Amino acid sequence: TDNLRQLADQRGMLVGAAIEPNHLDEPQYAKTLKENYNFITPENRMKWGFIHPKKDTFDFKGADKIVDFALDNKMKVRGHTLVWHIENPSWLTSGNFSKEELLKILENHIKTVVGHYKGKVHAWDVVNEVIDVYTLRNTLWLEKIGPEYIEKAFQWAHEADPDAKLYMNDFFIEEKGVKSDYYYKFVKELLDKKVPIDGIGFQCHFDMQTPPDMGSIYDNVKRFVELGLDVDFTEVDFRIYGYGDETQLKNQAEAYSQLMNIALNFDKVKVFTMWGLTDKHSWVPVTYPESGDAHIFDKEYKPKPAYTSLVNALKQG
Ligand code: G3I
Repeated sequence: TDNLRQLADQRGMLVGAAIEPNHLDEPQYAKTLKENYNFITPENRMKWGFIHPKKDTFDFKGADKIVDFALDNKMKVRGHTLVWHIENPSWLTSGNFSKEELLKILENHIKTVVGHYKGKVHAWDVVNEVIDVYTLRNTLWLEKIGPEYIEKAFQWAHEADPDAKLYMNDFFIEEKGVKSDYYYKFVKELLDKKVPIDGIGFQCHFDMQTPPDMGSIYDNVKRFVELGLDVDFTEVDFRIYGYGDETQLKNQAEAYSQLMNIALNFDKVKVFTMWGLTDKHSWVPVTYPESGDAHIFDKEYKPKPAYTSLVNALKQG
């Protein structure tokens, strides 16, 4: 077979895409998604601002649509994310809550959301981007609760769904460096304290102008899996500056397959999720206006060279 999903199934890999619910109404989008992936992450719909718009109101509609689509098509779901410093509703950020109130709010949020999806969400990004290079990121949570909010978040998520896998997720930690060193130390402490953490999510947002050092990624993955943790590639994309001509698309394809080959080298790397399905709907040009063409399907849903290179990596590897 030359089908990405079938090959992923055969290799025991979860190959995923981050998606928005409205795109499921586009027949070609839905078809491409279910034919080629076995894993889905809601790109935005589980973030606080969407799912918890008022203090006493949860809105599961958009996220439910994604989760139902996944389960109807025998795909797994990654929940993203329970704690972040971005996309928080104003009732939360300007509420001026005490430490006790905020602890209650966070516990209630995590238990309600994880409870709602109990048995349906395979893995959760419990905390997202909570480290700022060499220190804990200064967020509402840190400021008001203190560093223990992280372990509490994991415990509450675990209580709400003991079968879900639980992760810390972050960017710029794929290679060895100051930030990944900090993570290494930090997760070791969590493990020593018996915090229920299954692994770490390497986001993997890369720029083809400054491609990552794959050797360094390999070494870095190795030290985390040797702690007994999973390493999931959670938000992969390789953006291209300017226009993706033939050479650039070929280089991009090579980069995708090199990253997949790293995953295939380790038993504890089973997730390769891409942050978008098609260049037609992409966060990349919104954030980096000069860049794009970051995904494996083009704007007409035609598989790009990167698709073929992932297929080939999964066939050999
Ligand atoms: O849906 C609202 C709409 O109602 C409103 O009118 C409009 C006006 O701004 O905004 C819409 O929300 C946007 C949302 O995406 C959904 O489209 C937000 O403005 C926009 O900021 C948001 O961007 C997302 C960003 O996270 C911030 O939440 C991107 O789509 C999403 O790709 C990006 O994803 C992050 C991961 O969660 C964490 N890692 C990095 C990654 C890329 O930045």
